[in-house]
Amino acid sequence: MRFIPITEYNEQAMMLAQPVYDNKRRMLLAANNTIHPRYLEKLIQVGIKQLIIEDAESKGITLEEMMDMPTWMDVIDNVQEAYAAVKAKKAFPIRNVLTGVSRLIREVQSRPVVIPVPSRTLAEELKPYAHAVNVALLALQVGKALGYNDLMLRDLAVGCLLHDIGKVTAQQETGHPEAGFNLIRGIREFSLLSAHIAYQHHETLDGHGYPRGISGATFHEYAQICGVCNLYENLISVQDAAPHDAMERIMATSSINYNADVVKAFVRAVPSYPPGTKIRMQTGDNAIVTKITDHMQRPVVRYLTTGQEVSLADNPTLMIAGCC
Ligand SMILES: [Fe+2]
Repeated sequence: MRFIPITEYNEQAMMLAQPVYDNKRRMLLAANNTIHPRYLEKLIQVGIKQLIIEDAESKGITLEEMMDMPTWMDVIDNVQEAYAAVKAKKAFPIRNVLTGVSRLIREVQSRPVVIPVPSRTLAEELKPYAHAVNVALLALQVGKALGYNDLMLRDLAVGCLLHDIGKVTAQQETGHPEAGFNLIRGIREFSLLSAHIAYQHHETLDGHGYPRGISGATFHEYAQICGVCNLYENLISVQDAAPHDAMERIMATSSINYNADVVKAFVRAVPSYPPGTKIRMQTGDNAIVTKITDHMQRPVVRYLTTGQEVSLADNPTLMIAGCC
């Protein structure tokens, strides 16, 4: 299995490896089928930009590092429901949001690495909610790398899942952090720290962020984690950056936009080359990443010419030159 841009789909060589859904979560196409060109056009029309496919090169890559897809879709539902409640001025679905958070925590606690499903695999209307879920999932892995306990992880995930909810009521983009803060802090079951995540997620360590331009120690670590993960997720899903390029951008923010400890934890928690990524080794050989084991930046790779698999964690002299 591997992710490809939908424009690279080849009916002769590729099968769909995961179902494709529309914005109402109806299955448009089931897994293990090829996609007829007419359907492909339809998928592009609803805003789907990426597919998860199986082909000869990706054979044997199980993507078991990827988040469980039904759980992912359920938590996306929880976020969508929360936004809809705020919009309709109805009771906030507190319990469902907390259930979603618990499920994300369970995913992260039970596995060495959880790769978010790219939100580009979804219809346009669901992307903002998928973005929120992916930010929360990435943040939880950073929190885990920093040794957070379950309570800390919960407050972190609630804030990350709802970091942009102020967009529902704010008149202007710059007003959404404060609107989100006020909304979250009005809910007794949520921690004030979760509210501050929404308030501060566009701030930076050097005081150039918004809405308040806070800096230094006032910039809470939870909000910094949310800021890093929000930046990364936007680079991947909106700007279409490759994960290793997005990682470079994140590393460049160290000590400028975010504390070095937070950035270091991000590097320890998120792989630059997810399974299924085609890479070129420094030797000039082409390879594909097959697995992430315990070291996020040193995956297991398979050479395309020989089929030989090598763990980069066990072979420190072998280097990845880039994507191919
Ligand atoms: Fe935001």
